[in-house]
Amino acid sequence: MKSLKIGICGWGNVATGMFNALHDNVDAIKQNSGCSFNIEVIGARRDNPKCNPGNTKIVRDIFEVCNHDIDVVVELIGGVDVARELILKAINNKKHVITANKAVIYHHGDEIFTAAKEQGVKVLFESAVCAGTPIIKLLSEELAANNITKISGMLNGTSNFILSNMEEGSEFEPTLALAQKEGYAEPDPAFDIEGMDAAHKIGILSSIAYGSPLPPEDFYIEGITHIEKDDFTYAADMGYTIKHLAVAKLERNSLELRAHPALIKVSSHLANLKGVRNGMELDTDLIGKIHIAGSGAGQESTASGLISDLIHLSNCPNVDSSQKEQQKSVHELSVFGDLVFQYYFYLDAEDKPGVMASITSLLASKKVGIESIVQKEDRGKDSVPIILITDPFKENDHAELQKELLGLDSVKAIRSIRIEAE
Ligand SMILES: NC(=O)c1ccc[n+]([C@@H]2O[C@H](COP(=O)([O-])OP(=O)(O)OC[C@H]3O[C@@H](n4cnc5c(N)ncnc54)[C@H](OP(=O)(O)O)[C@@H]3O)[C@@H](O)[C@H]2O)c1
Repeated sequence: MKSLKIGICGWGNVATGMFNALHDNVDAIKQNSGCSFNIEVIGARRDNPKCNPGNTKIVRDIFEVCNHDIDVVVELIGGVDVARELILKAINNKKHVITANKAVIYHHGDEIFTAAKEQGVKVLFESAVCAGTPIIKLLSEELAANNITKISGMLNGTSNFILSNMEEGSEFEPTLALAQKEGYAEPDPAFDIEGMDAAHKIGILSSIAYGSPLPPEDFYIEGITHIEKDDFTYAADMGYTIKHLAVAKLERNSLELRAHPALIKVSSHLANLKGVRNGMELDTDLIGKIHIAGSGAGQESTASGLISDLIHLSNCPNVDSSQKEQQKSVHELSVFGDLVFQYYFYLDAEDKPGVMASITSLLASKKVGIESIVQKEDRGKDSVPIILITDPFKENDHAELQKELLGLDSVKAIRSIRIEAE
């Protein structure tokens, strides 16, 4: 029986979840993997009333964990600066590291992997992206024989929960309040609904699949706060729904990195993944499209990913998969403004003759083609919604077109959403 000696740093939600899962599922873990794990020490600056660590040694200074006779430090404190310092100390003490911390990997991944390589230890982070839903080792090992041309999906449970509810007819604000009540959104939800969380995750996946740096160079990030319930109705009329998509796409040796709302076909696999779960689609050359969906948060799901890293470490302590991405060629990052999208525009326009003509002639003057333009039903107000779907054109021209459309006398309000090409 292979066994590992573990030190845990942090004693919160995820740490206690892993502690309990290692205890409750000990037989399944032994039977499925032939491994056993002994928690030798826990670094907890205070007790956690929700979990009794029994006879396991507790130290109040998390950094002291790295000095114990252990094989691996499991970093579960979260945050960036102290976590970085702790991980580097563990590495310098020649301990392997497992972390669920996407922020520290996103901001300091390259530094951490370089240090680990120098010291001959591994840094594993399966739970840092989509918790226990397997994606990190899937990309770096099981799919390593493939050229992966695109990774796309809903990587933030809060945003997918809110948009799924809006699709069913709810407004944004009460849905956000519901998400907070149900524990799907933080009291300060900005990181999730402004797109940063999804951006962190796709940045990490891109580093594995395409060797892009951590932290990545700046890439395009937009959240879901400007989406309206009515957009779902208009999108559905044309066979689309709206998702917050995080995308890493390799095209002509150029890498697109972006996270923003997008119209996608209702018939697509991703369109049907509703609620708080995460879902991804991978375009591969040898096995075609692969779909993965699962819980992207929660202590049990995260424990599953952490234990999968422990098993991996136990089975192959000498194979340095965490540094694989460093060997890939680094692709040039696309300039977001050079990308080409079709766009959905919602225009709130005065209900008077000549409005449609003024819109279509402005688009013609800008050489932007129109796939469809529809004036929706009169809402009993002095304005009507006009839904415009353009032909593909450059992102660089998008903001200017939007500004000029809003400058038309008859147009009172405007918003737009990119359409994701299939
Ligand atoms: N929760 C999830 O569903 C989930 C899913 C995937 C990944 N993760 C990641 O897992 C990690 C842990 O998350 P969590 O939900 O378990 O957080 P948490 O419940 O807030 O627990 C964090 C623990 O770390 C301790 N800690 C924080 N900063 C510290 C410091 N500077 N020195 C010493 N101890 C410190 C905290 O101590 P105090 O209690 O004294 O503050 C607490 O015990 C994060 O990186 C998170 O992003 C979480």
